[in-house]
Amino acid sequence: MAAVDAGWTVIGIDNFGAKVAQINSGKSPVEDISDTQLQAALTSGAYRASTDFSSVAKASVITICVPTPLDEKREPDLSLLQSAATAIAPFVSNETLVVSESTSYPGTLRDIIIPTVDLFKPKDSVNIYFASAPERVNPGDTVWNQKNTPRLVGAIDAASKVKAIAFYESICDVTLAVSSPEIAEAAKLLENTFRLVNIALINEFAQLCASTGVNVHDVIDAASSKPYGFMPFRPGVGVGGHCIPVDPLYLTWWARQNGGRAEFVETAASINHAMPKYVARRALELIDKSITKPRVLILGVAYKPGVGDVRESPVLELRKHLRELGADVAWHDPFVLAWEGTEPVDISWECNVAILATKQPGMDIARLTGRGIQILDCTNSFKNLDGITML
Ligand SMILES: NC(=O)c1ccc[n+]([C@@H]2O[C@H](COP(=O)([O-])OP(=O)(O)OC[C@H]3O[C@@H](n4cnc5c(N)ncnc54)[C@H](O)[C@@H]3O)[C@@H](O)[C@H]2O)c1
Repeated sequence: MAAVDAGWTVIGIDNFGAKVAQINSGKSPVEDISDTQLQAALTSGAYRASTDFSSVAKASVITICVPTPLDEKREPDLSLLQSAATAIAPFVSNETLVVSESTSYPGTLRDIIIPTVDLFKPKDSVNIYFASAPERVNPGDTVWNQKNTPRLVGAIDAASKVKAIAFYESICDVTLAVSSPEIAEAAKLLENTFRLVNIALINEFAQLCASTGVNVHDVIDAASSKPYGFMPFRPGVGVGGHCIPVDPLYLTWWARQNGGRAEFVETAASINHAMPKYVARRALELIDKSITKPRVLILGVAYKPGVGDVRESPVLELRKHLRELGADVAWHDPFVLAWEGTEPVDISWECNVAILATKQPGMDIARLTGRGIQILDCTNSFKNLDGITML
């Protein structure tokens, strides 16, 4: 949509037919894009979706932004990236710019995408330009979007750089050229790993504070008064979504491939991974010990507020630990209709304790506190309220 707004004609190719049909019917599958915006782009002819990779032949710019998940060994799974590169290659025209926006380890463009496209490209597409420009979108963010978030561009050579910068300058306010695709790819991993380790630090710090009765949020507020050298992070149930829990594992894998070890990152990941168990224990401590089968209501199962995305949500682990500890667990989330084979309950569900895991808009917390139900707030939303215990 950013490219449409900038005057480009855009074809969105996806191999998932149902999503393509949904988009072409004017129903946006992306929370930050409204149906109205999508429908305007479809009606004007500036945008359409397709499952047909031969449409690529018409493009002067191709951006690849397929998922880069983990495989069953929790290692980088580039099969979708490879299949996308293989599928576009036979249709890439001469003088086309191919950009990878998917998050991956340094060397992905040079070692995986370029050789794949070169192998399958038509003989007459002599000049193809390549760059890496990792996506930095933050779903649900009302301040930072595709346009006003500076974009890193690492091109393979000078001619590719000119083409890639021209494209991203047309859709972003600020475009920053870096000296290679590897710098852009590594910067993306650093950004998300930075968040992972800082969240782990504050999760560990929160546990130390709680064990001594010090309010961690008051400490963070106090430290935040320092105008330089400190950035506040808050404790929570853990890390979720498709970026923070996943991207650092691309980094640790890359380190191992190169004979090293990202020990600090691995430690951070394990601290965050242990948080759901800690939260489960803290919540059950709020319940009268005579209750043998406690009923626990989890509020918010999406990995962050304002979205219905449950990918890698740490709340799944939280529910598992609560059940292992003998609890009867239900959940409530106005943004999620079904989750892991279960349906939500109303906020009035009879429970002994509630855990505010993700503060979704539209959750009426007063209906719980009004009934005298204890809430463990893992989101720093309701401090100083009766019946609320902060993580
Ligand atoms: N979504 C974000 O907030 C975000 C932010 C920063 C970076 N990223 C990165 O962007 C990339 C894409 O993430 P996403 O969340 O947009 O993914 P997503 O899960 O929304 O998937 C995007 C689409 O790719 C399609 N797809 C999968 N394989 C394909 C193929 N071979 N050919 C064509 N289409 C294919 C899927 O059907 C899906 O509709 C990832 O590398 C991710 O790490 C995402």
